[in-house]
Amino acid sequence: MAANWKMNKLIREAEEYVEELLPKISGAEGVDVAIFAPFTCLPEVVRSTRDTAVLAGAQNFYYEDSGAFTGEVSAPMLLDVGAGVVIVGHSERREIFGETDEAVAKKTARAVSAGLLPIVCVGETKEERDAGSMWEKVSGQVRAVFEQVDAGGIGGEAIVFAYEPVWAIGTGETATPEDAQDAIGRIRGLLGELGGESFAEEVRILYGGSIKPGNVDDIMVQKDVDGGLVGGASLEVASFAELVNGAAMGSDDS
Ligand code: PGA
Repeated sequence: MAANWKMNKLIREAEEYVEELLPKISGAEGVDVAIFAPFTCLPEVVRSTRDTAVLAGAQNFYYEDSGAFTGEVSAPMLLDVGAGVVIVGHSERREIFGETDEAVAKKTARAVSAGLLPIVCVGETKEERDAGSMWEKVSGQVRAVFEQVDAGGIGGEAIVFAYEPVWAIGTGETATPEDAQDAIGRIRGLLGELGGESFAEEVRILYGGSIKPGNVDDIMVQKDVDGGLVGGASLEVASFAELVNGAAMGSDDS
């Protein structure tokens, strides 16, 4: 279960959040938890989650390691601060900041080679879904990643995908559990074509888009859905803790 704080929280707020969260999720065994913080409070999240199973991550980085790239942060810099995971190609990066499939692929390749676990986001807009081109868009985004990453050369545990339909992000509108399963099942099928069956089985694929305690269970029980990338509902400790604990109960059942 991954918390994407987006452009929210000051250092003090991050510290208080983690302090409050940790005891609330201490019983949630079998669930990997990650917090994707803004760069400014990432060191605080790293510090306060040290010696716990919670992973601290960044929401973006640039694929070059150093140089004249004003405003950017590199993979070695993230490792230096103690981050282990990073979101790549979030739809807000693609839509607002014009990140291309090629840039997303290069970032993914650099994260993998640097030993950072990338969560690669893919998803279609409302117009694309309505036009019946969801799969064309999503499969194109997934294929583009593997133009830079050798699926046969990495283990499935080295990469995570998140299917996040753009129309469901921050809108309160969630994909139906069946829509989530349909897209994620097809992504897994495509990963099988690209990297073989065991690769496809190992890769974790998350759903994201208006997840909240009230709708998460029906999505998480879907066969191919391995977890959630949560924006709005991750900002409050109570709702994020509920999501983590709910996922722990779900994994007990299976
Ligand atoms: P949301 O965001 O949960 O607020 O829809 C999800 C995301 O963008 O990762």
